[in-house]
Amino acid sequence: MTLNVQHDVSLKPYNTFGVNVRARRFAEAFSDDDVCEALAYSTRHDVPLMVIGGGSNLLLTRDVDALVLRMASRGIRIVHEDCDGAIVEAEAGEPWHPFVLDTLAQGLAGLENLSLIPGTVGAAPMQNIGAYGVELKDVFHSLTAIDRHSGELREFVLADCEFGYRDSLFKRQPNRWLILRVRFKLSYSATLHLDYGPVRQRLEEQGIKEPSPMHVSRAICAIRSEKLPDPATLGNAGSFFKNPLVSAERVAAIKLTHPGVVGYPQADGQVKLAAGWLIEQAGWKGFRDGDAGVHALQSLVLVNYGQASGEQLLALAQRIQADIFERFGVALEMEPNLY
Ligand code: EPU
Repeated sequence: MTLNVQHDVSLKPYNTFGVNVRARRFAEAFSDDDVCEALAYSTRHDVPLMVIGGGSNLLLTRDVDALVLRMASRGIRIVHEDCDGAIVEAEAGEPWHPFVLDTLAQGLAGLENLSLIPGTVGAAPMQNIGAYGVELKDVFHSLTAIDRHSGELREFVLADCEFGYRDSLFKRQPNRWLILRVRFKLSYSATLHLDYGPVRQRLEEQGIKEPSPMHVSRAICAIRSEKLPDPATLGNAGSFFKNPLVSAERVAAIKLTHPGVVGYPQADGQVKLAAGWLIEQAGWKGFRDGDAGVHALQSLVLVNYGQASGEQLLALAQRIQADIFERFGVALEMEPNLY
C-alpha cells in the first residue's frame, strides 16, 4: 500500500488557473499499482475519482467532492528503433514540454511544433493537443489505458482513439479510461511543418536557412511566449474557446459587416473561424472584471489576475459566449473541462 490519501487539500497548486478550491481527498499516483489502489479506494469509500494531469485544461468552479488523483508517474523510454526512427513511450505523469525537449535531444523529430504546451503526457491525447499545424494524432503510435469499469488494461492504436480537433474518445468518455502511458512515432529524418502562421518567417528573421527540429522548437517557444501568458505568473488554461466550425453561408453573412473575418476553409466545406478574432472584434481583448479577465495579447485566453474564483471565470466566459452569439450568430464552445 503506497497510495497516500490526504483529506481536504487545496487544489490551487494543481490547476494552472490558480483557482483555490478544495478536494475532499487527494493523492498522487506514481505507478500503475497506485492507480489500482486509487480505483479500489474510490469503490471502497464510495467517493468518485477525478484524475488530473498538469491541471492546465481545467476550470474548477466549486470544491471537489471526490478523490482527486494527480498522475505523477515518470519514465521515458525507446520501445522500438530502426534506421528511420523510434517509438518512444512516456508515462502519463511526465510533464509535456520537458518530454518534447528530451526527444529532440535524442535527435528525434516530430514533437517540435508542440513545444511549450502546458500539461502532461497522459492528458495530451484527451484533447488531441495541437499547435502550429501539428496535432498529437499526427505523431501518435498507441497508448495504454486502464478501463475504470473493469480494471483491465487496454491498448489503443490510432484508429481506436477517434481523434478530432481538440477531441478524442477519452474526452467523450471521461470516467471510463485512465491513460497510463503513451507511445509516439518519431523520426530521425525530419519533415518539418513550417507553414502555419509566423513559424517560417520567424526562422528567416533569425537567418536560419536550413532549420533543424530544435530550431523549430525554439522559434515556437519564442512565438508562444510572446502571446500566451505563463501560468506560473498569470493563471490561465491556454485557449479557453475552440475555434468554431461554421457554414460558408454564416461566414458570408459575417463578411457583410466584417470583411476582415479570419477563417480557414475545411475539406468538408465548413470554415474554422478564429475565435480570438471574433472576441477581439467584439471588444473583449484586455477586458477585466475583478480578477477575471481576457488576456491583453490573445483574446482566446482567459486569465486569473489573482483571486478570481472559478465561478467568476465561468461567468465571464458565458458573457463572452452570449455576446459572440448575438453579434455573429456563432456559438463558442469552451475548451477546458469544467467541474
Ligand atoms: N486573432 C485575433 N485576435 C486575437 C487572437 C487571434 O485577431 O486576440 C487572430 C490572429 O490574428 C490569427 C488568428 O486569430 O489570424 C489565429 O490566431 P493564432 O494563430 O494565434 O491561433 P489561435 O487560433 O488563436 C490556436 C490554438 C492554440 C495554438 C495556436 C497555434 C485553438 C483553440 N487554439 O489558437 O492552442 O497554440 O492555434 O497553433 O485551437 C490551446 O489550445 O490552449 C492553444 C493555445
